[in-house]
Formats: sequence, structure tokens, C-alpha cells
Amino acid sequence: MDKTVTILGIETSCDETAAAVVRNGKEILSSVVASQVKIHEKYGGVVPEIASRAHLEKILPVVREAMEQAHVGPEDLSAVAIANQPGLSIALMVGVTAAKTLAFGWNKPLVAINHLHAHLQSALISAEHIELPAIALIVSGGHTSLYEAQSALELKLLGSTIDDAAGEAFDKVATILNLPYPGGPNIEKTARQGNPRAIDFPRSLLDGQSLDFSFSGLKTAVLYYCQGQDMSGQNRVATMSPQEIADVAASFQQAVIDTLVIKTRRAAKQIGAKTVLMGGGVAANSTLREAMQVMCDKHRLTLLVAPKSLCTDNAAMVASLAYYKYQAGQFAGLDLEPLATS
Ligand code: KG4
Ligand code: ZN
Repeated sequence: MDKTVTILGIETSCDETAAAVVRNGKEILSSVVASQVKIHEKYGGVVPEIASRAHLEKILPVVREAMEQAHVGPEDLSAVAIANQPGLSIALMVGVTAAKTLAFGWNKPLVAINHLHAHLQSALISAEHIELPAIALIVSGGHTSLYEAQSALELKLLGSTIDDAAGEAFDKVATILNLPYPGGPNIEKTARQGNPRAIDFPRSLLDGQSLDFSFSGLKTAVLYYCQGQDMSGQNRVATMSPQEIADVAASFQQAVIDTLVIKTRRAAKQIGAKTVLMGGGVAANSTLREAMQVMCDKHRLTLLVAPKSLCTDNAAMVASLAYYKYQAGQFAGLDLEPLATS
């Protein structure tokens, strides 16, 4: 009996239209991502209606390209998988409708995937073995959460942000510093020239045993630093030297990283974890990756982190996770709806 399971995954939860074909959960035959960064750049953030329209234009060409690059036709597919939650409703709706239509037309089972779980799966794609229990950190533009992972499919939420997500804070601070959108990669680039100890920005919720995060106070501290306490002053950024801007970027980035690393260590200690998983757009940040590795080495934890190419939104993580749901017989009906929350 042929045991090969080939899954087409689709992702439209925010501003990337993506499709991928993955074999047996591990072998990425294709991964196509049409980014909308250029479209949303001038607004400084994602505009849901514009994102939805762009998904509509791109979804079928992107699916076709993923199938062509993988050299597969509909007859080779075992299932169609879709990230149907969480995300922007009208963006998710495009992918969900496309996936349901393709599954129906090709007579394939449909697999519904949680976008956040898929981010963690991207840390597991190339892992041979995972020692449990594991702590899983998702750091993206929409989420900053810690989970206890019993398996790729079983996650227990331990803590999450009570205000801004880490990626959101990167994007907002980039706007304050007049750096281009998307903020994360540009803050990282600018921070390379700066001193991370130059300004002592606050690290929130570090007291006690809390596993929740808060980044809005940090963002406000950066704003005050740049515009003065009463916000009446001119934004000084225009008159700051490149070195001062780099120092602000580096000090802000360090405050976020310290918080993420301390909370992950705290969570790992609380559950006696052996492994740390990390995924999501902010996990592409090299300084964060290095700091998390240092912490894990110190405390004898194995760090499994998504390859940089799979940190930001993509459909390979969707098709990969779908393999395990397929094997467990967990299928969705054609009445599947998008869900904005997780
Ligand atoms: O996972 P993702 O593509 O989308 C969501 O599910 O939210 O994450 C996007 C977020 C954005 O906020 C972006 O600024 C941030 O990830 N990001 C980074 C880096 N690359 C992307 N943040 C810090 N450093 C980076 N290198
Ligand atoms: Zn994401």
C-alpha cells in the first residue's frame, strides 16, 4: 500500500497569500508566498479590505504555481488543508472558500488548521525527535503566547500578551523611528549599529510568576523618549543622529528579547520542560535566536526554532501540520467557517 501523503496547504490569514505542497509532513515540494508588503506599505499596516481583495486576485495563481513547482496534479493529493483561524475574517474567508471549493471539486478531504499551531509546526518540520514536555513560544505580529506542548496537536495556553503582540510593538516602534514597514526586519537591521544598553527601557510583568506579556508600556516609553513626556514636543527623530536612532532601536529590541527569554525560561522551569519550540515572524530575529539559544544551553534545554524562511507566514507549515491531523482522521466539513480568534 502506498503510504505517501501529499497535502496542498493554503494560508490567507493576514497579508501573505500562500500555498504549498508537503509530502508526509516533512518534505516541502513547493512553498509559494505572494507578499502584500508593497500594497500595505503606504498605510503603515495591514488594511483588511485591501488584503482580502489582494488574496482574491492571487489565490488561484499561487495555488497553481505551488502545484506546478511540486510537479503534482489534483490526482496526487491526499487532502487540501487551510488555516481557518485565527486571523482577519475577510482575509481568512478567501482561503477557506478556495480550499473548500478545491476539496469539493477534486473530491479530497479538507483539513482545518490553526495558524498559531502551524507556526510551531514550522519549528518541528526538520526535527527528528522531540523530548517532551516542551514549552512553545509563538511570537508574531498578532500573537505572543506561551504554551505547554504535549504533541504537535495538543497545546495548553500558559500565558499571552495582555495588550500588543511583540511583532506589533516592533512595527509601531519602527513607525515612531520613521523606519519603513514592516518594522521588525528594519528595527533588527538598524539595531545592529546600536548599543542595546544605551537606554534602560522598561521590561513589563517580570515580577512574580506571571507568564503573560505586555509590550504597550515599552512602546509608550519609546514614544516618550522620542517626543518628550507630555507629547507636546516635536518628534525628535528627525533631528536625532543615526547613532542615536540605532541606540533606541537596539535598546528597544533588547527589552523585548529580555522579556521573551525570561518568560520562556520561567515557563520551562514551571513545567520541567526538556525542549523549547519557537516560531512566528519575530522568531526570524537573529538577536532573539541567539539569546534564546544561550538561555537554553545554560539550562540544558533543547531549542527547536523554525528556519528563518518559515518564521513569517507561509503555507508549508499548514500542509505539514495537516499531515498529523490527516493521520489522526481529523477532517473538516464543507461547512467550515473562518474564525477570527484562536
Ligand atoms: O508570523 P507573521 O508573518 O504574521 C503573523 O502571524 O502575525 O509575523 C509578522 C511579524 C511582523 O510584526 C514583523 O514586523 C515581525 O513579525 N518580524 C520581525 C522580524 N521579521 C518579521 N520582528 C523582529 N525581527 C525580525 N527580523
Ligand atoms: Zn502568522
